[in-house]
Amino acid sequence: MVEKKSFLKEKIDLNSPNKNIVPITTSIGNDGKLSIGGCSIEELVTKYDSPLYILDEITLRNSCRAYKKALEKYYPGKSLPIYASKANSSIFMSNLVASEGLGLDAVSEGELLTALKGGVPNEKIVFHGNNKSNKEIAFAVRNNIKVIVDNDYDLERLEDLSKSLNCDLEIMIRFTPGIECHTHEYIRTGSFDSKFGFGIENLNTLFEKISKTKHLKLQGLHAHIGSQIFELEPHMDLGKIMVNVVLEAKKFGHNIKKLNVGGGLGIKYTVHDDPPSIDEWIKTISNSIVKACKNHNLDLPTLMCEPGRSIVSTAGVTIYKIGALKKIPGIRTYLSVDGGMSDNPRPITYQSNYSACLVSNPLNINSKNKYTIAGKHCESGDVLLKEIELADCKTGDLLCVFGTGAYNISMSSNYNRIPRPAALLVCDGEAEIIQRRENPVDLLKYDVLPDRFIKQNSVHLN
Ligand code: LLP
Repeated sequence: MVEKKSFLKEKIDLNSPNKNIVPITTSIGNDGKLSIGGCSIEELVTKYDSPLYILDEITLRNSCRAYKKALEKYYPGKSLPIYASKANSSIFMSNLVASEGLGLDAVSEGELLTALKGGVPNEKIVFHGNNKSNKEIAFAVRNNIKVIVDNDYDLERLEDLSKSLNCDLEIMIRFTPGIECHTHEYIRTGSFDSKFGFGIENLNTLFEKISKTKHLKLQGLHAHIGSQIFELEPHMDLGKIMVNVVLEAKKFGHNIKKLNVGGGLGIKYTVHDDPPSIDEWIKTISNSIVKACKNHNLDLPTLMCEPGRSIVSTAGVTIYKIGALKKIPGIRTYLSVDGGMSDNPRPITYQSNYSACLVSNPLNINSKNKYTIAGKHCESGDVLLKEIELADCKTGDLLCVFGTGAYNISMSSNYNRIPRPAALLVCDGEAEIIQRRENPVDLLKYDVLPDRFIKQNSVHLN
């Protein structure tokens, strides 16, 4: 038998999971089949069905600890890593990051509620968003959650609220530092042309405005320059720019005590990706801020960062069952799976790439075939992976797609009325449900047929 070099043969980096394609606990059993978290994937699918999202607890905890450890090393005693919950928001994820001492960033009442229900202490939650509703702002203030002011509209409403409550409100402001990142345009948020935050050129006017309010206390600055970034220089520049803004704010009497540098560290989706480690990323940012503060004789502010993808993406995989095979001679062979763009909209949205293997033959022994993995949605563009090498496949085989922990379940939909998969947590040979599988009847829950329409009966469920 010929064994092709597979990404599953690569050495695992335990300290920086974002540098691996697969979860840390991935292994291949004596039977040659794939296990994660000590659980046989085949057995999990027999018990829980497919498609299935799986999160590996060890990988998640190692990612959280890598951020904490690096911050303690390069910025001792004055930091708070915050999990960007948009990457994967659930009561479980909130609980896990809280148990590791991380804070959490939320952008809606739904994410705030999930964080609180998951046990994240309110003083460790920050609330973002370029168009927060009045209800959301009131919810955050009522729960003592720090609001990151994104625009004048936020500022006015917070000022009104502070007046009506007759109490001081500590705020942070978000600004766009004008740093361009070589990343997909849709996820570039730090350049001047961005819907988020105050333009850096307008900050002095803003500082003056805040000074004139009775109750708003400007405590911190926030900037986020993009996502899936592999370069370190943009964050080095960001550190310097933020310290310059601290100096400007000082001129208006504001004592900035917190700097939040956002998230953005990339992960390895395929063998072609080589992101920096968590340690390198934190070192770059910390050193840049420490150096700039030293140069200007400033006390070190508390350093916050907001990783999302690099906390949760590598911990997650999605398992699909292969159904129809369609061979187009001389062109390609499509393998259709039982999920697709509703559980992972990233390929169709951002043309993102993933790595995958067969659960029964993960090392691609005797691999000589290229397959295109198509989803089951009624849309030609619903293709999850293009032209990947796999061992011989047949209907009923299971496919494992790696790196799906971030921005998959959180961006999932019910397109074509397809229910969302279940999500499992695996650890030490045990699997637990963290999100239940939806079923088609659940999807009818919010439909309303006005009384004047004739109701149909006799639907045979099961
Ligand atoms: N903080 C803020 C204010 C953000 O807007 C984001 C991501 C993060 C932190 C976390 O960034 P991360 O560490 O995950 O790169 N849906 C896209 C990604 C959008 C990212 C939006 N903001 C994707 O699937 O690639």
